[in-house]
Amino acid sequence: MPAVVMEAVTKTYRGRRGRPPQKALDELDLLVENGGVHGFLGPNGSGKTTSIRVLLGLVSADAGTARLFDRPVPDALPEVIGHVGALVETPLFFPNFSGRRNLELLAEVAGVPRTRVDECLDIVDLRDRAGDRFKGYSLGMKQRLGIAAALLKHPRLLILDEPSNGLDPAGIRDVRELIRRLGRDGHTTVLLSSHLLAEIEQVADSVTILTRGRRVANGPVREVLAGRSTHDVVIRVSDRESAGAVLQAAGFGLSPFDDVRGPALAVHNVQAPGEVTRLLARHGHYLEELTPVHADLETAFLAITGEPA
Ligand SMILES: Nc1ncnc2c1ncn2[C@@H]1O[C@H](COP(=O)(O)OP(=O)(O)O)[C@@H](O)[C@H]1O
Ligand SMILES: [Mg+2]
Repeated sequence: MPAVVMEAVTKTYRGRRGRPPQKALDELDLLVENGGVHGFLGPNGSGKTTSIRVLLGLVSADAGTARLFDRPVPDALPEVIGHVGALVETPLFFPNFSGRRNLELLAEVAGVPRTRVDECLDIVDLRDRAGDRFKGYSLGMKQRLGIAAALLKHPRLLILDEPSNGLDPAGIRDVRELIRRLGRDGHTTVLLSSHLLAEIEQVADSVTILTRGRRVANGPVREVLAGRSTHDVVIRVSDRESAGAVLQAAGFGLSPFDDVRGPALAVHNVQAPGEVTRLLARHGHYLEELTPVHADLETAFLAITGEPA
């Protein structure tokens, strides 16, 4: 029994203040099997949050069906919602209460035993700081407390809507590690929405890619995103011209690659970066940098859909 099924779900928001209606979901299909992390990947405005709102009964779909654990939503939501934890927007906590106190209040409302509070604080690695006031937490800690709140009911499905948005690199790393761990615990299925291809590559086992409210690809991450890296590397050397000549003579395609750090060279169709390093070293060029280029989401979209995201 899959955790989530959406079939041909369509949702058009009424245009407000004279604006035209906005088709957010256009016969969207989504299948999330039990276990692991399922990435829900699409650019901003592609319909990720709307889909999640439909699943949680926060907006109603115009057409199509949605099921959680094989029960139709929103009709049977009361039967299944106890198994679902969600972090959709930055959750509201009392700023002057500690993280632990905030969770205790939520646990009381949800009818969850207090002992579960410390378990959840442990899972998100906040036990040490649980007694500090919420308002003193970093953004990453606030987000992890939000995840702890979503975990109170020990849900079988955890829905996280772009949980690393706005976090600094350390916060992003912590949240990603936590999601990976949850996906491996054998109990929780995580539905993780993101507009970042790299995040989904790092964290998810399977993925659904959507653009303009439609599914354009789905399956195991390795299969769906395989071959999306470009086999290009960017190199920096002190003498670009003569290094470029060496590479060209060896048959590599080249193009200029400039970024904030200055001019560099993109080398195309590199099967193993070592080839480039050795070839240049033999000719007395020593690399200052060699970086594989990964296709960004736009390029991946282009490859999958044949049209820009
Ligand atoms: N409450 C709303 N009213 C009108 N349009 C909306 C509303 N919420 C979202 N939209 C529109 O629906 C589309 C999908 O939005 P959303 O589901 O938030 O996408 P995502 O989460 O992938 O960024 C966008 O074009 C957005 O502008
Ligand atoms: Mg969103």
